[in-house]
This record gives sequence, C-alpha cells and structure tokens, in this order.
Amino acid sequence: MKPKIVRSIEGLHRETAKWRDDGLTTAIVPTMGALHQGHLTLVAEGLEHADRVIVSIFVNAKQFGANEDLSRYPRDEAGDVAKLAEAGAHLIFAPPEKEMYGRNFATTVVLKGPAKANLEDKFRPHFFDGVATIVAKLFIQSGADFAIFGQKDYQQLQVVTHMARDLDMPIEVIGVPTVRASDGMALSSRNQYLTKTERKQATAIYKSLTQAAEKIRNGTDPQKAMRAASRSLTTLGFKVDYVTARNAETLAVPVSHSHEPLRLLAAAWLGKTRLIDNIEV
Ligand code: PAF
Repeated sequence: MKPKIVRSIEGLHRETAKWRDDGLTTAIVPTMGALHQGHLTLVAEGLEHADRVIVSIFVNAKQFGANEDLSRYPRDEAGDVAKLAEAGAHLIFAPPEKEMYGRNFATTVVLKGPAKANLEDKFRPHFFDGVATIVAKLFIQSGADFAIFGQKDYQQLQVVTHMARDLDMPIEVIGVPTVRASDGMALSSRNQYLTKTERKQATAIYKSLTQAAEKIRNGTDPQKAMRAASRSLTTLGFKVDYVTARNAETLAVPVSHSHEPLRLLAAAWLGKTRLIDNIEV
C-alpha cells in the first residue's frame, strides 16, 4: 500500500495521535531521500520493532557546509515513495524547508563527546550541530518510540544515541549494520556521483579496513595497522581525510595495549566524491 505523504508538523501530529490512541508503537527512520537498499533495511528494522514506521525525507541544509554538495544532493521523491510502498512504510514525512526552519528559527543543539572526536567534525565543522538539531526536531515532532539509524554513518549514530540519552528523550535509538554491495562497498546515496572506474576503485576502502582489522586481531598495534591502510589508499589515488581506530562507543583514541572494543573508521576522497566507511574489529 502507498504510504501517506504528510508535509506539515500538524498533519504528522494528527496521524501519530490516532496511532497512539489505538495503542500502536512507532519507529522513525530519518533520511534525506535518494533511498537505496540500505535505507529500506532500516525500514525493515523499524517494522521489526514497531507497529507503524515513519520515514522522514528532508535534505537538511543546516548540516551542509558552504562548499559541500547541497545543490547537487540527489533528489527523487517519486522514486523514494515507490520504494517505501514496497518496503511497507506507513507514512512519509516530507516537509518543506519553511515548515522545519520557519518563524525566525534560532535554536541549535550544540554537542561535545563523540561529536568532537576529530573525525567527521574536523572536516565538516557544522555537520553534527545540524544533524542533531534536525534529528531532535524529528524525535519531538514524531513522538516515536524507536529511531532507526545505519551504522554506515557511525559517528552520527553515536552522536544521536548520546543526545537522546543526555536530553532524556523518550526514544530508543537502534543502529543497523551497514548494507554492502556484493563487492563490499557500503551503499550510500553519494555512490551515484562515482564514475564507473571510480566505483570499482572505491572498494579499496572496505578492503583496507578489513585487512587492518585482520592484522589487529592478529596482534598488530591498531594505529600501526591503520597507518598502513591509509598509505595503501593514498597510493591508490585516494585523498585520505582520516583512517583510524577508535573506541567503539566514545570514539576516543584507544589507550595502547587496552582491550577496549574498537571501530575502524575511514573517510577519503575519490575524485570529487567523499566516501566514508567503518567496521568493527
Ligand atoms: O544520515 C542522514 O541521512 C542525515 O544525516 C539525517 C540523519 C537524516 C539527518 O538529516
């Protein structure tokens, strides 16, 4: 069945109030559209946890820097609606910009902790304040019981989880493993910017992370393994922003010889496209 498309906060409240009256639980999957199988997996996860699934589609200008790809960010609402109908989502919340940031909007969520880990925040300084602000609004507007995020944007998942906990938001944030193509490449809306040749080269990111994880499991010092991964990506023509091992929860640099859980994270440019990926050890 085609999901209902709602464009106003008032309309969203009307729909969710009916569900609440009927004793139904709700999950929200926040997205910026251009949906791929990764997003549809998040919808499936939402359906596992809740009776009703809302998917928000909103390209959030506040999380883009001045020279980032806001204007060329892919948009395909009709395609997204068809995919969400197939996936069994119940409601699409696709508000216009003025509905979300109208009326002299003047509030931003300011973050510390995993949002200041010298990872994405170093290269995209406004990104997490923008993400947290829109995500906080979506949590409040939807009143959802569950929020479903992909582990692909691992730092974002940690930031949002932390925010919900710190601000006592009555919502459970659930992280879903990254969906990958058969060659290991993490699915992302930005992959469509890659040329055919770049798309083939891009698998090197996942390969270098999995090789580093293997070395770490066999006793190599994590940062040494990550430096080797970074060098190999540079040799292959990537411009590396970071390739690093971090504490899986705090995203702090791990203490050497500790047995803390590790996450290996990478961000690198291939031509004009910035790619990110991460894996657990
Ligand atoms: O991951 C995304 O697509 C965005 O950062 C999000 C969470 C929808 C907020 O705009």
